[in-house]
Amino acid sequence: MSTVQCVLSASDDTGVSTQMIKFAASISKESVVDIEGVVSLPEKPIEATTQKVEIQVTKVHCISPAIPTLPFNLEDAARSEAEFEKAEQSGQKLARVLQDTRLNHRVLGLRTPMNQAIFGGILDHVEHKFRDYLRSKKFKGVHSPKIISGSSEGGAAVFKLLYVNGEPVCLAQSPQLHKQMSICAGLGRVFEVCSIFRAEKSNTHRHLCEFTGLDAEMEIKEHYFEVCDIIDGLFVSMFNYLNENCQLELEIINKQCPFEPLKYLEKTLRLTYAEGIEMLKEAGIEIEPMGDLNTEAEKQLGRLVKEKYGTEFFILHRYPLAVRPFYTMPCYDDPAYSNSFDVFIRGEEIISGGQRIHTPDLLRKRAKECGIDLSTIKSYMDSFRYGAPPHGGFGAGLERVVMLFCGLDNIRKASLFPRDPHRLEP
Ligand code: 4AD
Repeated sequence: MSTVQCVLSASDDTGVSTQMIKFAASISKESVVDIEGVVSLPEKPIEATTQKVEIQVTKVHCISPAIPTLPFNLEDAARSEAEFEKAEQSGQKLARVLQDTRLNHRVLGLRTPMNQAIFGGILDHVEHKFRDYLRSKKFKGVHSPKIISGSSEGGAAVFKLLYVNGEPVCLAQSPQLHKQMSICAGLGRVFEVCSIFRAEKSNTHRHLCEFTGLDAEMEIKEHYFEVCDIIDGLFVSMFNYLNENCQLELEIINKQCPFEPLKYLEKTLRLTYAEGIEMLKEAGIEIEPMGDLNTEAEKQLGRLVKEKYGTEFFILHRYPLAVRPFYTMPCYDDPAYSNSFDVFIRGEEIISGGQRIHTPDLLRKRAKECGIDLSTIKSYMDSFRYGAPPHGGFGAGLERVVMLFCGLDNIRKASLFPRDPHRLEP
């Protein structure tokens, strides 16, 4: 991902004729060209490119012309809000390119420097570090089926379709059931990077109907904190890596969408859910202690934690059991709570996880209490009848991790071809 200024000047030395200059000038913006020339130092530094050098062109071929009139101006699509405001103040008219316009013509929109930095850099690094770190901790990569017989997370957000024999089936809302079954099968520690399907009707800045899940599951000896330790090491090393190795990408993103670098501690802060509720209460925000945090409460808690502990990345654990999925292990000392957690960046959830129930009787009881149709998860339930080790795990959303690490305001900015309730194209 780099840009360079190319200069054409007619002279006998370079062999460039005025005709060639006319031809080059006639090439439409965004066309694919092949250039030959001499690399040289420019007279003045060039702001608009990523290179300190320029090319004195000797030959130019148009390989594939773009249509003469593009749906929007790419330079405008690459401007920051501050640039628009400055231009407005000085009476200059610049057209903002709306998000829908950019997304409707995504292939073109992806050519901005910021999108090249996100999709040609940050996203790939996050995925790579996820795999790399977990492999270093003896996790094995697996691939679980995406066509499954029932909902894996409960609730209505499930895409239903008909299987080859006409049987109703679902698109997996997560690899939850099969990653646990891999642990029942004796694989010990597994991870999966895969598409996740959620028939979410909510049209928000952070929900997609299809996203990339970063999931892991592992045997545990005693405590779900063993899973938190993995998350801690994984994400802190990922953030360190991004800050040290992706400076150019982060600068480019910052130029168009300014953001403060993420504040995080080398040892991730862990607070209990009750402590979180207490912090909110002290700040005058009343939350039902056995309910869940809404988006606004999460934001407020993120703000309070940052003020008190100086971190924007933290783990909130020991959630009320009633707000967690059926497979979550209740706390041994108080079954109104659960051995589970969420992880937040800048006051928004990026991970949820916890210890799972591994005893068939308790699992059946909890599934029934949560209104799960047991006939749709029969093979999952059966897996625990052959002996299953205590285990736990977590799931993160790749796009959410990138959105929140880079301080982006919308998850669509971190999804190559986003799918939401109103968007199925391109
Ligand atoms: O909180 P969720 O639904 O948890 C699970 O899927 C569990 N099976 C995970 C586990 O191992 N216990 O989803 C996990 C993460 C969220 O924290 C969020 O980052 C992301 O997936 N996510 C979404 N990202 C984009 N669009 C959506 N609609 C998302 N729903 C969840």
